[in-house]
Amino acid sequence: MNPLDTVIIGSGPGGYVAAIRAAQLGQQVTIIERNVIGGTCLNVGCVPSKALLQAGHTYLSLKHASKYGITATGTLDFTQTQTWKNTQVVEKLRMGVTQLLKKNKVTVLKGEARFSGKNTLSVTSDGKSEDYSFKNCIIATGSRPIEIKAAPFGPRIVDSTGILNTSTLPESLVVIGAGYIGSELAEAMASFGTKVTVIEATPSILPGFNTKLSDLVKRNLTKLGVTLLTDAKVTATQEHADKVTVTYVKGDTTQTVDAELVLVSVGRRPNTDNLNLAAAGLATDPKGLIPVNAQSRTNNPQIYAIGDVVAGLALAHKASYEAKIVAEAIAGHHVAVDYKAMPAVCYTTPEIATTGKTVEEATAAGFSAKATDFPLAANSRAIAAGKTDGFVRIVHDEQSKVILGAQIAGESASEIISTLTVAIETGLTLEDIALTIFPHPTVAEAIMDNTEVGLGFPIHV
Ligand code: FAD
Ligand code: NAI
Repeated sequence: MNPLDTVIIGSGPGGYVAAIRAAQLGQQVTIIERNVIGGTCLNVGCVPSKALLQAGHTYLSLKHASKYGITATGTLDFTQTQTWKNTQVVEKLRMGVTQLLKKNKVTVLKGEARFSGKNTLSVTSDGKSEDYSFKNCIIATGSRPIEIKAAPFGPRIVDSTGILNTSTLPESLVVIGAGYIGSELAEAMASFGTKVTVIEATPSILPGFNTKLSDLVKRNLTKLGVTLLTDAKVTATQEHADKVTVTYVKGDTTQTVDAELVLVSVGRRPNTDNLNLAAAGLATDPKGLIPVNAQSRTNNPQIYAIGDVVAGLALAHKASYEAKIVAEAIAGHHVAVDYKAMPAVCYTTPEIATTGKTVEEATAAGFSAKATDFPLAANSRAIAAGKTDGFVRIVHDEQSKVILGAQIAGESASEIISTLTVAIETGLTLEDIALTIFPHPTVAEAIMDNTEVGLGFPIHV
């Protein structure tokens, strides 16, 4: 039995960040990874999806540049797009994380980890197993796509990894599920010219967001030629040599749509079923998530869990945040997670971003909550960029004027939401922001303008 100090299973944004911070705090750290370093986010998630969206947006903006007096000619070489994404973005970042682990003296073991006892695990690689004991273990094994009976994965029915790595651009694509992945990848592929049909079970795309935000995304997808079928349910799929026939029910009618490829993006489930958790005295909830306390500690005092395997939003920055807290908890610091200002962003057009509480959540929490909106149509930078779809909404407490939450749709929403996240985290009031000097012209000025609306003396609306 090889003794280990702190061992981490999984090298995604949860695992590798925990490894580096634990090493910085003086722990001897080992990370076990069955695949490549970087996890879902870096290799087949956040990073490649944003790279494809960027390429798609560049292609679209060239096609529509004539309004600026620019005529662009040329064709799309999708093979080159994929090569650029894989080599200049994903591999580059993966090398960077590998170097960071090395620099922090983190030992990397390649293999699949499984618990064999309360403080022991075995790692299997190429059919050979090694046994280890540990002082502390952090489970950061992430999640994988959910498969549905009506559309089992096959050569032409793929998950997000399949669509992100497609070597040729499909002429047509059916997307089942219009959450984060379905909406972002529908937009990316439609930007390249793929004919996309989206089939979503609920009445709206992006059901996790307020419809004032998601309706703007809906409008843009429709403009891109995407067919949006909401309140619709896929009942069967049939794979042929050159296409898939998708049967769906919408209202009282059953219809079919053919496509070269089908993307199934109906959610993800945690990778907790192959860890032999019972041997370590652990159990999961009905969703497969591992229950933890505010320091991410499980009911086994030597084992912690972070990221997509625990409750809450399944987002990379949440995993990394929990990773830093857990490394400090193991080092004996008095720390606890606090999700008061948790941002979430969907990188569609317009981008939509939220942080803190909605007005409904703030009211339910006992605040006299009020929300004010400032439209990007009144923001000079958005007008200069020709991107005025959107608004900044700030939720504040009417008595104290403390900022409680924000929702933004529009150009740079993913960037400017951080200003409001800092405001919530540090307890700023509307006046604190209104008296801050924002550079002109910037989209971020809409935040300052919004606080003036909230205080009752707006300049620009
Ligand atoms: P993961 O990143 O999933 O890493 C887990 C690692 O554990 C993997 O490398 C896996 O191989 C390894 N592993 C699992 N089991 C074992 C085992 N038994 N032994 C050894 N190794 C094991 N989030 C955002 O915040 N922003 C985005 O823009 C965004 N875009 C996304 C786009 C797509 C297409 C997808 C699929 C996800 C996206 N996400 C995004 C979500 C984000 O990727 C995840 O929330 C994040 O990766 C979770 O981090 P994690 O460390 O918990 O797990
Ligand atoms: P999701 O939970 O975001 O969306 C799933 C969608 O599928 C929902 O709209 C749901 O109503 C729909 N659905 C479920 N079953 C269905 C069915 N049978 N037929 C039709 N529609 C159905 O899950 P998704 O998009 O797979 O993404 C998984 C997770 O990855 C996200 O929840 C998010 O945490 C993370 N992610 C984050 C991103 C970001 O931060 N920008 C981008 C991509 C993923």
